[in-house]
Amino acid sequence: MPDPLAQRSIALGVTGSIACYKAVDLASKLTQAGALVDVIMTREACQFLTPLTFRSITHRPVVTDVFDPQSELSIDHVAIAERADALIVAPATAHTIAKLALGLADDALTTTALATQAPLIIAPAMDAHMFDNAATQQNASTLKSRGCVIAGPAEGRLASGLVGKGRLLEVPQLLGCLRQTLGRGGDLAGRKVVVSAGGTQEPIDPVRVIANHSSGKMGFAIAEAARDRGADVTLVTAPTALDSPFGVNVVKIATALEMRSALQNKCAHADALIMAAAVADWRPAAAADQKVKKGSSDTWDIELVKNPDIVAGISTECLIKVGFAAESEDLLANAQSKLLSKGLHLIAANDITAEHSGFGADTNKVILLDREGGEESLPLMSKYDVGHAILDRVAGYLS
Ligand code: CTP
Repeated sequence: MPDPLAQRSIALGVTGSIACYKAVDLASKLTQAGALVDVIMTREACQFLTPLTFRSITHRPVVTDVFDPQSELSIDHVAIAERADALIVAPATAHTIAKLALGLADDALTTTALATQAPLIIAPAMDAHMFDNAATQQNASTLKSRGCVIAGPAEGRLASGLVGKGRLLEVPQLLGCLRQTLGRGGDLAGRKVVVSAGGTQEPIDPVRVIANHSSGKMGFAIAEAARDRGADVTLVTAPTALDSPFGVNVVKIATALEMRSALQNKCAHADALIMAAAVADWRPAAAADQKVKKGSSDTWDIELVKNPDIVAGISTECLIKVGFAAESEDLLANAQSKLLSKGLHLIAANDITAEHSGFGADTNKVILLDREGGEESLPLMSKYDVGHAILDRVAGYLS
């Protein structure tokens, strides 16, 4: 499945906040993803950056003024509004948010926002007190009640030196928001999809754990792919170095038992469970309360007890279950027996010794085995695309 941004027309409104430097990267990533990007800058944004900056990245004219004779908008002031698949204002200042809430149209950006029927995403960036101000809060909720997406702001260090809520979301989050918005109404719209990710960690004592090499990338990519097809996604994840994807409900756990109880809870009303986590099969029978000292002993015996098989133990009447079989030998035979013993609809057999498909890679090569006896060998693809291939099957079962 192509990137939801490819071939889409995205209008990017840039307003006068120092955070507009991030809009340059956003324009670049959108262009790289194959989107047609129309940048509209306010007069204040032009104090921070020049139109040439965006023009050099998007290779398209940049609109700054409705009355500029060079601008497309001087002839047809709704041209961009009409072709846009989404309008994202990033960064959006308190002033622009107020104008949008009032429905003012005194510049190219607010005129386009009023004229477009495309979804409107507003990514605020301002001082924390300005964002907290009752006027801004009310304007944001007015826009939200009209169906606008208010993306962020994030908490953190602000340009003023203060720490608070007012930072523009980072570019991957903004891209995630756009992909989710464009994917509304996809083939998983209205469906609840639960995904597990990462390698569980089983404590030995307060500083040591039994872990594995899972990076969590496969599960995170599936969660994003499901989000981009309109699903309501919950990601139950063991510790990873990855940022939470935009628009996904993330539940953080550490051990296999915690993962099981989170999944039992989330799957009660779910349509599908995709089990990409690498669950520890064993855990220490008892974790020591205090750090175990080296002491005088040269060896250390740890008694391990078996963890429950999570995916095998979860079943509701209509839950579609997908598992992974990470194997280093006898790939298909092992995967086939897991498909049956765990009561799965589908299993992705994954040779972890193959090039570019092991732990931590951004790509994967899997063979899909289904319970009807079907076998499909997929080429090496990005983990996001593997996610879509699995979700094609899930969507098929659900329909
Ligand atoms: N799985 C699970 N609970 C476990 C172990 C695994 O739900 N305690 C799930 C995994 O998330 C995966 C599938 O079962 O979707 C297969 O996991 P894998 O580690 O390949 O197999 P195991 O069942 O652990 O068997 P083995 O370690 O013997 O290969």
